[in-house]
Amino acid sequence: MATVTVRHARGSYPVLIEPGALGRLGLVAAERLPGRRLALVTDDHVAPRLAAWGCPDLGARRFVIPPGEATKSRERWAILTDALLEAGYGRDSAIVAIGGGVVGDLAGFVAATYLRGIPVVQVPTTLLAMLDASVGGKVAVDTPHGKNLVGAFHPPEAVVADPRVLADLPERDFRMGLAEAVKHGVIADAGYFEWLEREAPRILERRPTVLAHLVQRSVEIKAAVVGDDEREAGVRAVLNAGHTVAHALEQVSGYRVPHGEAVALGLLVETRLAEANGWCQPGAAARIRGLLTVLGLPTRLDPALRPDRLLDAMARDKKNRGGGIRIAPAAELGRSEPRDGSWTVTVPPAAMRAALAEGG
Ligand SMILES: NC(=O)c1ccc[n+]([C@@H]2O[C@H](COP(=O)([O-])OP(=O)(O)OC[C@H]3O[C@@H](n4cnc5c(N)ncnc54)[C@H](O)[C@@H]3O)[C@@H](O)[C@H]2O)c1
Ligand SMILES: [Zn+2]
Repeated sequence: MATVTVRHARGSYPVLIEPGALGRLGLVAAERLPGRRLALVTDDHVAPRLAAWGCPDLGARRFVIPPGEATKSRERWAILTDALLEAGYGRDSAIVAIGGGVVGDLAGFVAATYLRGIPVVQVPTTLLAMLDASVGGKVAVDTPHGKNLVGAFHPPEAVVADPRVLADLPERDFRMGLAEAVKHGVIADAGYFEWLEREAPRILERRPTVLAHLVQRSVEIKAAVVGDDEREAGVRAVLNAGHTVAHALEQVSGYRVPHGEAVALGLLVETRLAEANGWCQPGAAARIRGLLTVLGLPTRLDPALRPDRLLDAMARDKKNRGGGIRIAPAAELGRSEPRDGSWTVTVPPAAMRAALAEGG
């Protein structure tokens, strides 16, 4: 079984990645959560599949939440917390979160705050959750003012990723996870990017061993970055490649452009912009466009999403407040480096407007 170790300020945790890994969840729980009373949190799409996936019941009570981003709310945080209190869970308990990023973020935030914090084991079941959301310790809920604005750092005791479960994932959700894998190649590993280009057909067939490698390499890259910068002061910014434009696309479209598709487009626009300004070696954007196309991800901006509205959204982005529009471009395909001591660059609005106007 492949194990990637993720370091953080107070210790480290293993990410276990293997086809069939779910069958070992009982062992992992016994080892990482010894003697604890377990609460299993999952959603309505995942719960009925657990037995077929070979997931042990862990002797845990199940708390099943509705699927979808709307569930990542303070209201659902309160409902879940009250359900645990009602059931008498004490300080000696722990949460096992089985599902996509919505389950992981909500259950993780409940764990972070329940009786001032109880341990959580993350069992991601979407590609996005396996290679992104379950790693790094960030947990949160959304608010009417924006996504993920109330949250905590609460690293899990362990992460268990079983690529076999991805066979059940709807096609669009599957491809959206791939956008983050492309991002990992772009920011940190040209060899991985080439592997994605070469293995695209096997990836799209969802061969479990191929997906296990993909998840492993992406988790290694994310883990290396967050291990160096848990709280996002510096190098962690490289994980936001593509995301300045992506967040604007999500907002202006009223979230009709889903995150992974927005990231695909954002990577392309931001890389093209970086090439035009001499921040990134030429050629990267063309390779990114080629790989996104092969993977069935979008490369064309919807012209209905007007550049001026996108620029407005970027200027209002809470993470950019006061600092202008900032992006974190790779220096060349597969390599990031700070320039003048910073991992991000400030983009003149006119340059961003020009890149957006090109339309993808
Ligand atoms: N904490 C972080 O660092 C971090 C990073 C990236 C994203 N996120 C968050 O992750 C969330 C998105 O996660 P997501 O894309 O996993 O969405 P999701 O959790 O909504 O899952 C997508 C859909 O797939 C279903 N599902 C899950 N596993 C399945 C399976 N194996 N087979 C069939 N259906 C399955 C879910 O019920 C849901 O309907 C967002 O809220 C985002 O903010 C967090
Ligand atoms: Zn993302």
